Amino acid sequence: MKIEAPGETKKDGGTGAAHWTPSGVARVLIVDDELSTRKLLMTMLGEAGVPCKVAACAEEGLMALETEPVDAVLCDLQMPGISGMAFLAEVRQRYRHLAFLMMTGVDDIRVGIEAMKKGADDYLVKPLQIEIVLASLERALEKKRLEREVENYRQHLEEMVKERTGQLETALWKVERGYEDTLEALGAAIDLRDSKTSGHSRRVTLYSTRIAKEMGVAEHELKTIAMGAWLHDIGKLAIPDAILLKPGALTEEEWIIMRSHAQLGFDLVKRIAFLADAAEIILTHHERCDGGGYPRGLRTADIPIGARIFAVADTVDAMTSDRPYRSALSFEEAHDEIRRGSGSHYDSRVTDAFLGIAIESWKEIRRSIDIPWSGFERVDGSYERSPNFGSRGN
Ligand SMILES: [Fe+2]
Repeated sequence: MKIEAPGETKKDGGTGAAHWTPSGVARVLIVDDELSTRKLLMTMLGEAGVPCKVAACAEEGLMALETEPVDAVLCDLQMPGISGMAFLAEVRQRYRHLAFLMMTGVDDIRVGIEAMKKGADDYLVKPLQIEIVLASLERALEKKRLEREVENYRQHLEEMVKERTGQLETALWKVERGYEDTLEALGAAIDLRDSKTSGHSRRVTLYSTRIAKEMGVAEHELKTIAMGAWLHDIGKLAIPDAILLKPGALTEEEWIIMRSHAQLGFDLVKRIAFLADAAEIILTHHERCDGGGYPRGLRTADIPIGARIFAVADTVDAMTSDRPYRSALSFEEAHDEIRRGSGSHYDSRVTDAFLGIAIESWKEIRRSIDIPWSGFERVDGSYERSPNFGSRGN
């Protein structure tokens, strides 16, 4: 009777277990301090065509496993020095996939159960009978083969899940990138439409995210604020040129139409799921904390934090940009104006954050935008040319 080794070709990554001989037969290591038992097993297994090695103690057994891999171990329970149980523990630690049969002279089921609890695949009671030894050996090797199959399958599954997750993440990144490119084009279109305020959307986006970061706003909220600031005037695309670009003062009727851009922008964007939160900022970007804004005359607590932040960023940009009727004012003057409006026109939490940032930082952001092909600060503090929606790698 031949015992087939499990169908593997190599050592299993550190377990030390070999999984076939050139003849495809399992190799067995016999560890027993009794010479007579070693000889008996060698003879019996040899006649069954199973190649064997022998060791007279656990130490010898461990050395044998180091030098030449085997598929199964037959080990005596009672040995001087390292006991069979201690040897089993050592083998299990180093060679997980090795079949291990414990031999005992005591026909006590509790000893056998104890050995199997500690990792033995079976136990044999002396005196040994070749049929029982071979049957037990075959079962143990088959069990190990199945264990390896399950483990290989699990590893394969993990690799497959990892690969699929990577593919999904890449696909999502591409979709998100596509959204951002679309938004960038939209924001640029808004700025182009109203040439008096060229670059305004880009600047208020960077100013808003800078203040939001100073306030410790959550990452996902930063993205919403960036998108809301970037698209805040999208409703102006629906305002007639005669009003939007009118060189003189607007009439009251024209102001009503002009002010409708907040609602128009909201209506345009609210149906886009990933812009739903940003739409709220678009709707409320002209509200004032003292209730003097439009379209609904909301007060502080009812105005989204993104819109309260935007209000400060918007004033700063309006003051520090050239207008047909005046040159740009300084950031120092903008600072003073924001300080004066704190707690009335503007949310004091937002103004505190704004005033806590060095004036030089605002000038630096402004310069980075005014220089062609220069970069923009992203939410994570790095620079790139995108309008800073804060999603990529943040
Ligand atoms: Fe506006």
